[in-house]
Amino acid sequence: MPDAMAPGTPAPPVLEVRDLKKHFPIRKGLLRRAAGHVFAVDGVSFTIAEGETLGLVGESGCGKSTVGRTVLRLIDPTSGSIHVGGQDISRLPRKALRPWRRQMQIIFQDPFSSLNPRMTAGEIVGEPLLVHGAHATSARRDAVAALFERVGLRRAQMDSYPHQFSGGQRQRIGIARALALNPRLIIGDEPVSALDVSIQAQVINLLMDLQRERRLSYLFISHNLAVVEHISHRIAVMYLGRIVEYTDKKTLFTNPQHPYTEALLSAVPVPDPAIKRKKLVVQGDVPSPVKPPPGCHFHPRCPYAVDRCRAEAPALREIAPGHLAACHLR
Ligand SMILES: Nc1ncnc2c1ncn2[C@@H]1O[C@H](COP(=O)(O)OP(=O)(O)O)[C@@H](O)[C@H]1O
Ligand code: SF4
Ligand SMILES: [Mg+2]
Repeated sequence: MPDAMAPGTPAPPVLEVRDLKKHFPIRKGLLRRAAGHVFAVDGVSFTIAEGETLGLVGESGCGKSTVGRTVLRLIDPTSGSIHVGGQDISRLPRKALRPWRRQMQIIFQDPFSSLNPRMTAGEIVGEPLLVHGAHATSARRDAVAALFERVGLRRAQMDSYPHQFSGGQRQRIGIARALALNPRLIIGDEPVSALDVSIQAQVINLLMDLQRERRLSYLFISHNLAVVEHISHRIAVMYLGRIVEYTDKKTLFTNPQHPYTEALLSAVPVPDPAIKRKKLVVQGDVPSPVKPPPGCHFHPRCPYAVDRCRAEAPALREIAPGHLAACHLR
């Protein structure tokens, strides 16, 4: 755990990721030799402060889940660093990781597949307490009951099984479980993407209430910009393993600078018809991260591409205070 800080030292961010890369080897043949790599995450940097939500958005396959799994050290990074509360955990061996793991929890898109169908909801929520030996049996049951009530479930539902709950309730079980060890950071990997829109709003509001109460930090992953809008303070837009734009939510929605962000925004309905948004519809699918296009990864789909875009990768740079974009034309 971190040493006590000198008075007056600003607290380090809850999470700081620097130049994170995850390249999955593609193994071929009898000898399983590496025959190339999937460049799933290719140099991603961001920070999340206490009580802050960073939205991470981008089309399916651009590396969002890999960022989440690598930050949690469920998979090892190829390179780069992951600082949690100031401590670099990117190379820590499993045993030394434990106290840091407690501080970071994850909730998934499909809570059903991540919840053991043979355990009661109460056992599922209490399991992290059991594993970390945090409470005696009766105290554990009380702690679980309190968590149930906090996420909007009834105590009596502790003895029900996952299949007896609705999708929204199952996500509440997932949230209660994530809260059990009092984490500082929760990674939500498409946590509301499988839910009806009205239920999505309820779950997002619950997450926002919990954030205020507990000064929680969130990395909120979604393929849909509209979903991250309400909950995020800042948003990072990913394309093929890299962040292409990164700024506060309001700036991203009102003054997007990257053509890819413009394209994602074109798909988001504007609530006020008086506000006109530039329409940009990009053609085609995300190219394969096995052989990303040279230069700017986005150039084959970008309507503004010039020769330079095909030859030289644009750096993510600050184009205005607190506004980063990776595009030669900005
Ligand atoms: N364990 C793995 N081995 C090889 N490739 C993987 C592995 N996990 C993910 N990938 C690939 O990495 C890329 C990014 O995947 P992912 O992080 O799941 O994207 P997203 O969450 O944005 O949809 C995809 O091309 C995916 O197929
Ligand atoms: S660098 Fe070129 S291809 Fe890439 S987004 Fe900007 S204009 Fe488009
Ligand atoms: Mg994913």
